Amino acid sequence: MNQKESFVIEGLAEERSLSGTVKVHGAKNAALKAMAASVLFAGPVELRNVPRNNDIETLSKILIRLGAKVAWQDDGALSIDTSAMSSTDIDAELAGSMRASVVLTGPLLARFGKVTFPAPGGCVIGARPIDLFLAGYEKMGATVTLDAGACVYRIESAKKLSGAEMFFNKVTVGGTETLMMTAVLASGKTVLKNCAMEPEIANVAEWLVSCGARIEGIGTPTMAIHGSGGALLQPRESYEAIPDRIEAGSFLILGALCASRLAIEGCRPDHLDAVIGVLRGSGAKIETAASRIVVEGSAGPEAYAAIADLRTHEYPGFPTDLQPVIVAYLTQASGESRIFETIYEGRFKYIEDLQKLGASITVMNPREISVKGATPLRAMAGDGDLTAHDIRAGFAVVMAALCGSGTFTVSNVHLIDRGYERLEQQLAALGASVQRIKAA
Ligand code: EPZ
Repeated sequence: MNQKESFVIEGLAEERSLSGTVKVHGAKNAALKAMAASVLFAGPVELRNVPRNNDIETLSKILIRLGAKVAWQDDGALSIDTSAMSSTDIDAELAGSMRASVVLTGPLLARFGKVTFPAPGGCVIGARPIDLFLAGYEKMGATVTLDAGACVYRIESAKKLSGAEMFFNKVTVGGTETLMMTAVLASGKTVLKNCAMEPEIANVAEWLVSCGARIEGIGTPTMAIHGSGGALLQPRESYEAIPDRIEAGSFLILGALCASRLAIEGCRPDHLDAVIGVLRGSGAKIETAASRIVVEGSAGPEAYAAIADLRTHEYPGFPTDLQPVIVAYLTQASGESRIFETIYEGRFKYIEDLQKLGASITVMNPREISVKGATPLRAMAGDGDLTAHDIRAGFAVVMAALCGSGTFTVSNVHLIDRGYERLEQQLAALGASVQRIKAA
């Protein structure tokens, strides 16, 4: 992964000139968890529709360093065999670049009785603690110690983990799926309350059930898991990742702003009710079918209306991961929009890039902004240098550049590569001028 790559983008100058079809990849945030769940199995598992992005590659490397065999098959499936795993020390450098590595800790602890790992890395979007994971492990009988010097957590359980009842005082996607997977091998029943209900969790849970796990309440706020007492799962069925709703939603918003007509194929419109509702409420023309969404962009500064009160929310509410993208869209809607980021307290770093292009955005507090539109976006005084601050903020500034006037450079595109597969090729196929270059 080259840290010093950038995109050079020619703005469309408010023309909705893109058009074509985008095929959605498998969901990164589902496939990563299925990869972690491979530790629960006695033999090799086959994962299908796994996207090939940097996060997937990073987790593959972490698994290989733990002694797993990980290989892409000729048919595109990812095969993972953890039967010869020999270590439970998660690589600090690799884990430092991706928070999802913390999801591995539960399966490793459940199977081997111990795990060590660094404080999780990933996107710099708020503190993102892991107290709910650690509290869960302790409830199941493990002991957690923090080696403050090395900033490494050591978790051990002298005997098999036992089932427990837990209430998440914050809805946590990673916490829900990790403790669900941990409970699969524990002895006895685990009840998880106030669970996250993202479809990626159900996607992995249903696969585990097809391979013998006993999980009830999938997709609801309360799940009950009847543990095997240590017996590993048998890989009876392959796993198939659901379509990535965040990738689909990203292109849906981009299509409304920059395309005359954009079809998004191989997606799950039913996973995007909140996003489609917000866009339609703002005046976007959107048609949906079983696995396809078509959006027709409207031109002119009056084309879209502002959103008076938009709040991000756990699924099925408006996804925090599309907050940066919808904010970039709202700079082109007429009127004042108010956006409340209820999940993270540090997810507005990209605002300064949009303000640099002329967007009228006020940060009221770490969780609330006001956007006044529509404002044309341009490289003010010839300065079109932008930065990708995280995966989704990176997509937002690329989209802002595309609907602006002038030439723009977006640096740190390795962060965009964590969640999108060759975004520049996808955009070029729609008619955009986006070049990937080695930064100077
Ligand atoms: C997942 O992160 C996603 N990542 C994130 O997407 C997404 O933004 C997030 O869910 C919310 O939807 C993956 O699935 C790999 P959380 P996760 O645990 O699981 C607090 C992307 O772009 N919390 O639901 O880490 C936490 O601080 C990424 O792909 C605790 O306080 O999110 C946050 O405020 C960006 N203690 C809130 O819960 C804990 O022990 C939600 O976090 C755990 C979480």
